[in-house]
Parts: sequence; structure tokens; C-alpha cells
Amino acid sequence: MDTALDEVKKKIDIIEYIGQFVTLKKTGRNFKGLCPFHQEKTPSFVVSPDRQIWHCFGSCQDGGDAIKFLMKWENITFYEALKELADKVGVKLRHSSVEDAAWRRKERLIHLNSLAGEYFGYVLAKTKVGELAKRYLSSRKINDRIVNKFQLGYAPQSWDSLFKFLHKKKFLPEEVFSAGLAVQGGRGMYDRFRGRLMFPLKDQRGNVIGFSGRALHDDDPAAKYINTPEGPLYHKRESVYGIDTAKEAIKKTGNVYVVEGEFDVISPYQAGFENIVAVKGTAITREQLQLLQRYTAKITLTMDSDAAGLEAMKKGIAEAEEMELEVGVVSLDFAKDPDEAVQTKPEEFRRVLSHPVPLYDFLIDASLKKYSVHEAYGKKKIGEEVAVFLAKIKNPIVQSHYVKKLAAILDVSESSVASLMRRATEEKKKRIFMRTRTQASTEALRETLLQKYILSITFQDETYESAGYVLQILNPADFSIPAYGKMYAAFLEYKIKYPDKFMPTVFILTLPAELQVVFDEVLLFATSDLIFEKENLKKLIFEAKRYSLKRQLATLLRMTDEKEGYERELKDLNHTLNEVEKHLAAL
Ligand code: CTP
Ligand code: MN
Repeated sequence: MDTALDEVKKKIDIIEYIGQFVTLKKTGRNFKGLCPFHQEKTPSFVVSPDRQIWHCFGSCQDGGDAIKFLMKWENITFYEALKELADKVGVKLRHSSVEDAAWRRKERLIHLNSLAGEYFGYVLAKTKVGELAKRYLSSRKINDRIVNKFQLGYAPQSWDSLFKFLHKKKFLPEEVFSAGLAVQGGRGMYDRFRGRLMFPLKDQRGNVIGFSGRALHDDDPAAKYINTPEGPLYHKRESVYGIDTAKEAIKKTGNVYVVEGEFDVISPYQAGFENIVAVKGTAITREQLQLLQRYTAKITLTMDSDAAGLEAMKKGIAEAEEMELEVGVVSLDFAKDPDEAVQTKPEEFRRVLSHPVPLYDFLIDASLKKYSVHEAYGKKKIGEEVAVFLAKIKNPIVQSHYVKKLAAILDVSESSVASLMRRATEEKKKRIFMRTRTQASTEALRETLLQKYILSITFQDETYESAGYVLQILNPADFSIPAYGKMYAAFLEYKIKYPDKFMPTVFILTLPAELQVVFDEVLLFATSDLIFEKENLKKLIFEAKRYSLKRQLATLLRMTDEKEGYERELKDLNHTLNEVEKHLAAL
């Protein structure tokens, strides 16, 4: 292992470090809190001081060390995170590794982009050719404060002025190409953006990761907007225009307005709406929602008045519901888009924005506009259309509220709405070839969970008190998951060698690498205080034993009775099973 990596890890205490981002509470040996990577109401994010690792047992099912945490938090690479932590604790990194090279290349591209941004800004502000773009901006009523805030610029009408500028700054043609600022033509490279108003696209930390260029005339034969293509820095699915200028206001207001285009961000910003970002004319993606979720649990989609916007929005809804985000909708029926709305009717814009409609009310309204509620056929259409969305609602109270509402609007019974929802769910399941979970698989899941709890409690108890109870009843063969059985066997050996105290950090070294990963996850698993009560533990142990005995019994019954000692084994098993049942009943 890299020595610098070791040193960084030694100097960082994971509880203290993650504690800056997440409120952690001690439970048992570990610390627990609400997972910062998905929306949740009950904590499933666990951090272990012994192992200096974290794990989310909720919808992320992900975990790792402090570096991994930072990687996920900032959406950066391993090397970037290592460097940030190394700087923080004053460790010097050697400049040699492969990651280092990749990271330096990325740093250089960011630098290249920011120089290009400065160049465009300079051309706009200080040159004669920039006046065209200046006039365009004033025709759209954008002032200098906003030009500076968003670092707007102008790419001159020339084939290679930026290319030459960057060459002078010692950037290689490949680098300019790789940043997406040059295009490879038959006779060499030329500037991608020519004669366009330039918007730098930045990540949440303010790094310029790409550009978007708008034609100065709507009749430009090329597209109205041209964007940096996908590359090492720019990933359309993950990027949100304006996040760096909006993030503080988002945190402060607890809400973010999501619009479609650059002007729809900067115009409202100029009018004082700072918690506003754009997804650039596409359906909002899961990655974009995840980025926004770092700053707020509430998202307000601000729709253009066209139907295309509504359809695009629907795609994002399932993701947002999955992440338990609160989604509101603002629809502007008095203007083409937020830019036009705030410029022409600022008061109305303000009023509409302060009264977002909850997503499901919006969907019901949209459907009511499409079909007539006064005839059976219209009711059927509305019901079917809305039920698809209501079926996805996670919170049962919210769901029941809308079932009631829809039933009242359609003047039908709630049970008929419920049956439409069931049909919607079933059809979806059929589509993705998913069968409803059978009884058997639920039982298997429960058995696995029991085993995981028992081991977790055992490993978290350094006095071996819990182990005392487990040892009396369970042996390695009782664990249906082979990795758990092996780990338990290793534990029994370890206990003989170190009978005084269980030390997770020493124990893990006795395990083969593939089990070490399993061990970390198991160690962090049990966090409820309840579970640490001895009576509960006994119940878990006996339940696990019962599963094991039933499994053995089933195996035995499948064999022929010619097996040596079959009768005797069958009797023994049944006897033990009865004993276990008795214990369970008594607990
Ligand atoms: N867009 C794009 N490429 C295009 C067209 C649009 O990337 N060829 C993105 C831009 O971010 C644009 C957004 O989609 O802002 C919405 O497109 P549209 O509604 O056509 O433009 P407006 O946002 O109204 O742009 P403007 O106000 O500048 O006319
Ligand atoms: Mn517009």
C-alpha cells in the first residue's frame, strides 16, 4: 500500500471527519446517522471507529473509508479525494502514480477551460468584436453584474483565435481537443465555438468543466445552442447549470427551482431568485437529482408551458419518488419560459414561484385538462394516467391522500382507484419480468438477516459476553451463508487464542481477503440498541437454530432411508427442534 495513503488514513479520525457532514450518534460500538447520499427518515448509515469505515444499509448499500466517503460526497476520483485529505492533514504526496497522472491531466483541462473562459470574457468586455454580443445581452436585458457572476463571454467569429491563444499558453492541440474546445477537421483543428455568446458550465465547486454557446441570431444555420461534448470533464447526465452560484441559496431556502435553459437561470437570478439551476433542455436524470439532494430535500420543477416539458418531467418523477424527494411543480401558463416570465411579468412570476403545486396535484390537474371528467371514457383515461404515478408513492399517508382525492374528483369509490393502481403496478412488473417474491425467498432473506445480526452483535462485544450465548447453541454449520459459517469458525479459533478480549482490528487480519470485506459489513450491521439486550439475542439465536434444524431435516427427508443411522438422526433432529421450539415459546 502507498505509504502516503497509510499516513493520511492514520491522521484522519473517521468519526470526527464524517461527523462534519453527518450528525452521528453512538449506538453500541458504532455510530449511526441519516445517510447523506440518499433521502431517509430512519438512520441506516453506520460508521465504525474500530475499522475506520462507513456503510449505508439503506438504498445505497455502499461503504468504505474516509477517502471513499469524500469521493462520493464530492463526486471526485480516488486521487482527487486523497489529495484533498492529504492537504487537510499536511501529508505530502509523491508525484509518481498512474492516478496522479490522470488527476494532473484533469487539473490541466480544468485550467485550460478556465483560461478559455477568461479569454471569452475578455473578448466580450474589452474588444470591438465583443460589442455584438454586448448588444445581444442588453437586448435580452442582462446586466453587467450577471455577466460577471456567470462569467459570460463571447467566442469571436474566427476559426482559430482560441486555439492560438491556448497554444501560446503552452497547451497541446490534443488537450484543446480533449477539452472539447477544438474540432478535428480535414485540414487540422479549428475552434468549436465561433461567433457565440459563451456560458461556462461549472461543477458545484466552480470548476469550469465545459461551455455552452448560443448563436447571436435565432436564424443561425447551426444549432441555437452548441455544447461541449462528453469528455473527461463534462458529463451531461451529471451536470446541472448554475449549481455553483445557486448552492448557498438552495441550502438557505431548502428548495431549488429547476428550469430548462441558461437564460432561464440568469434572468431570474438577476431578479433575485438565486436558488435556481437548469438541466439544459432534457429530462432530469437520477445523477442530477443526487447532486441537488446534497443541498435540499425539496425540488421545484419549473415547467415551460409546452407539453414536451411535461413528458420530459415524467421520466424524472420515478427517480425522485424513489429518493423520497419532495417534488413541487410550478407551471407558467402566462409566458413561454422563466426568462420571458420574469422579464415581462415579474410580479406574477414571483407569485407563481412562491406557490408550487405538489407534484401529484399537478399531475391530476394536467390530466383533467386533457380529458373530460364528465363522461365514463374520460374518467377511465384520467384514472389510468394518474394511477400509474400514485402507485409509485412511497409514503402510505401521502398515497392514501391522493387516492381519496382522485376518487372524489372522478366520483368513484376509493377501491376502484386502488384496483387501477394495482393493475398499473402489476403491468409494470410483467413488463420487467419480475415475479412477486415467494414465501420461500422471504424466509431465506429473514434467515440471512438473523445470521447477520447474530454475528454483528457478537463481533461488537469485546467482552465475549454475547459470544457466550451464541456458542452454546450455534456451530459453524448452522450458518446457511458459507461466508458467515467460515467467519464464525475463524471467530471460534480466535477466541481460543485470545480468550480475554475480542479485537476486531486483530481478528480481521486472520481472515482471507474476500472475507475481510464481508466482516466489515457484518461488523457495522447491527445498530439498534434493542438488539443488544440479551433476551433479544437469545431469541435470535434460537430462531437461527430453528431455521438450521429445519433445513437439516428437509435435507435428511430427501435422502433414502437406507442411509446408515437414518432413523436415529431423524429422531435426534426432531428432538432438538422441539427443544428449540420450547425455548422460543418461553422467551
Ligand atoms: N439546448 C441545447 N441545444 C440546443 C437547443 C437547446 O443544449 N440545440 C438547451 C439549452 O440549454 C437551452 C435549453 O436546451 O437553453 C432549452 O432550449 P429552448 O427552450 O429551445 O431555448 P431557450 O432556453 O428558450 O433559449 P433562449 O432563451 O436563449 O432562446
Ligand atoms: Mn428562452
